Amino acid sequence: MQRTTVEELRRKYEENGQGHVFRFWDELTDPQREELVKQLTRIDPWTVRRLQELLEQHLRGRKPSADLEPVEVIPLPRTEKELEGRKQARRLGEAALREGKVAAVLVAGGQATRLGYAAPKGTFPIGPVTKRSLFQYHAEKILALSRRFGRPIPWAIMTSPATDAPTRSFFNEHGYFGLSKDQVLFFLQDTVPALGPDGKLLLEEKWRICESPNGHGGVLFGLVRSGVLDELQARGVEILYHFQVDNPLIRLCDPVFLGFHIAQRGEMSLKILRKRDPYEKLGVVGKRGGRFAVVEYSDLTREEMEARNPDGELKYWAGSIAEHCYNVDFVRRVVSQVDNLPFHIAHKKVPHLDEEGRPVRPQEPNAYKFEMFVFDALPFAERAVFLEANRAEEYSPVKNAEGQDSPETARRDMVRLFARWLEEAGAIIPRDAQGEPAVRIEISPLFALEAQDLRGKLPPGFRVQRDLVLEEGWKP
Ligand code: UTP
Repeated sequence: MQRTTVEELRRKYEENGQGHVFRFWDELTDPQREELVKQLTRIDPWTVRRLQELLEQHLRGRKPSADLEPVEVIPLPRTEKELEGRKQARRLGEAALREGKVAAVLVAGGQATRLGYAAPKGTFPIGPVTKRSLFQYHAEKILALSRRFGRPIPWAIMTSPATDAPTRSFFNEHGYFGLSKDQVLFFLQDTVPALGPDGKLLLEEKWRICESPNGHGGVLFGLVRSGVLDELQARGVEILYHFQVDNPLIRLCDPVFLGFHIAQRGEMSLKILRKRDPYEKLGVVGKRGGRFAVVEYSDLTREEMEARNPDGELKYWAGSIAEHCYNVDFVRRVVSQVDNLPFHIAHKKVPHLDEEGRPVRPQEPNAYKFEMFVFDALPFAERAVFLEANRAEEYSPVKNAEGQDSPETARRDMVRLFARWLEEAGAIIPRDAQGEPAVRIEISPLFALEAQDLRGKLPPGFRVQRDLVLEEGWKP
């Protein structure tokens, strides 16, 4: 390690009011010094300065007003014409899948703090009967779609330093759930330093700064910098189907959504849900200053959440479920225009060392983390499609340990959905006094991706009497 490099680095950090990161330098071993220098070289002090300014504004200011105008949303089909529109879109989307123009992109770098789960959330056992993991559900959907369309659909997975190794081992241990290894492309998202309320960097160890993943918006930059976008493009991919790890009901690579996105020449498109109540934690979609935009729920004031139109409908009813289509070209354009999307600031508990080098384990939020959100790319889009989704069939995320949006509600919604599919196919499902299925049901995506796939697979008058798992190779 060059002495001059270290001195220059120290000077730069001192000039920016962050010289304390060298506080324990004299106590460090050579490898520890090397690690610190490497990290401090990667984190540019100017970036830290920008984060500090953001934090100052955040601590001073009030929230900007959402001030969104409504956008046109393609509603759930009610008329013959709307049904026909969906059918046409589906044909277009299916053609794109058959031609190998679509890849799935999963953001899986999150830390599942609300769920309180130490491993990556994708390893969470969600199957109502078999305890299939969220990763397995997604993998089986991709495998089933790849078989249906006669092409291996590439699957890019973004991890973070905390989730990378355990995610890769999980895929290895499970034989990639039947996918071929070269179909799955892992890449790491970047990290951003956390700051104390005084704008100072925090030390996690005497030789390491506290950093955290740069948010799911890091996906656009990660795709480009890792070379994964080049690889996908070389395989002929034009559209990326972006999704989150926590929704087992997701209609992955939905041909209808893809079809509308293609037909209307969308650059970035979003699936929309009617918010269940004013306080549901979904970002809302609209237009601001002539550009499309999403305002995160935490940036809405209470008045804005509760605002209603004269007809009684919520003013901001169109919630984003973080399921997007965006084009390879669009990603390149955004990344060539900006170094990052705007950072959002979250007040969090961040363990660190005090001035004497003693560990501090805060009980209350003590520091600020910076995250980018992928939907902040939306204002870059000239054209976008907003497609209304059907909650009962498409969305039940695992966010919290209990209550709403928890494993319990996700499993309940899976069983409800699978029971409806079976009934549509003529099966008889026992139901309790509240009308809920009285047995647990699980359907592997390899057996059926949607209700119509059950046709012809069940014996006439099929009566379900106990817990049921329908998987590849199932015989009545
Ligand atoms: P969430 O914020 O809902 O999930 O992120 P989380 O981070 O796992 O959970 P909490 O907030 O700590 O309770 C939504 C999606 O974005 C991914 C998550 O893995 C999830 O799929 N994500 C989030 C990233 O990939 N990177 C991040 O830095 C943050």
